[in-house]
Amino acid sequence: MKIIMLGAPGAGKGTQAKKIAEKYSIPHISTGDIFRANIKENTELGQKAKVYMDQGLLVPDELVVDLVVDRLKKDDAKNGYVLDGFPRTIPQAEALTNALNAIGEKVDYAIDVDVPDESIIRRMSGRRACVSCGGTYHIRYNPTKVEGVCDACGGELILRDDDKPETVQQRLSVYHEQTQPLIDYYTKEGILKEVDGTVDLDVVFQEIVKVLSGN
Ligand code: AP5
Ligand code: MG
Ligand code: ZN
Repeated sequence: MKIIMLGAPGAGKGTQAKKIAEKYSIPHISTGDIFRANIKENTELGQKAKVYMDQGLLVPDELVVDLVVDRLKKDDAKNGYVLDGFPRTIPQAEALTNALNAIGEKVDYAIDVDVPDESIIRRMSGRRACVSCGGTYHIRYNPTKVEGVCDACGGELILRDDDKPETVQQRLSVYHEQTQPLIDYYTKEGILKEVDGTVDLDVVFQEIVKVLSGN
């Protein structure tokens, strides 16, 4: 099963992608997590990406596309994957469609997690992210068992640099301008599924499971 998660920053793409990956035993591939891991390791890619990410802007397509296409060729992606944060622009979506076409494959579902901007700002200030595995928590809506420590891997939790309110605002405008058009793109492809992302995260997940099981 090949799945794309769409939705505004903070809509819950990462939260849901992790649950999907576990339930269906497919890898969760998050471009944001890949960039953050590179920033942590201070790689050349990380240094380049950080400049854009800290301003709430998108990393240029040419730094993203090959990275993802290569990742999808790995063994663990044979039976599918859940892509979180990619594609994010029409050129990225087209590059993905073409790369998959070339090997006779296609994406099965594009799931749009719908949350209005007002709720996003509230969520981001309480978010904590694991630097090791990319796990996301919320101090109120999804707390860890031990404060500051990731439930899944014991890694350290941080407040992301791009979760400052002014940067979140910028990320939202970038989303509306460059990423929202993908909703039309995947509607035309006939694979768009919308779920309400404002309800409890377990309820959002149940809705997604319904979609994925064809109900
Ligand atoms: P990325 O890491 O993808 O960030 P994003 O899209 O801005 O999305 P977030 O990770 O902030 O939100 P999310 O939807 O995953 O929400 P989460 O589950 O954490 O990208 C970061 C940056 O990298 C980009 O700005 C860009 O610069 C660059 N980049 C990445 N990919 C790129 C690409 N393809 N091209 C170019 N540049 C790229 O949930 C948010 C919070 O809400 C959490 O605290 C969570 O616990 C809580 N929550 C979740 N669901 C619920 C719920 N139902 N109710 C209450 N709280 C909830
Ligand atoms: Mg995320
Ligand atoms: Zn972790």
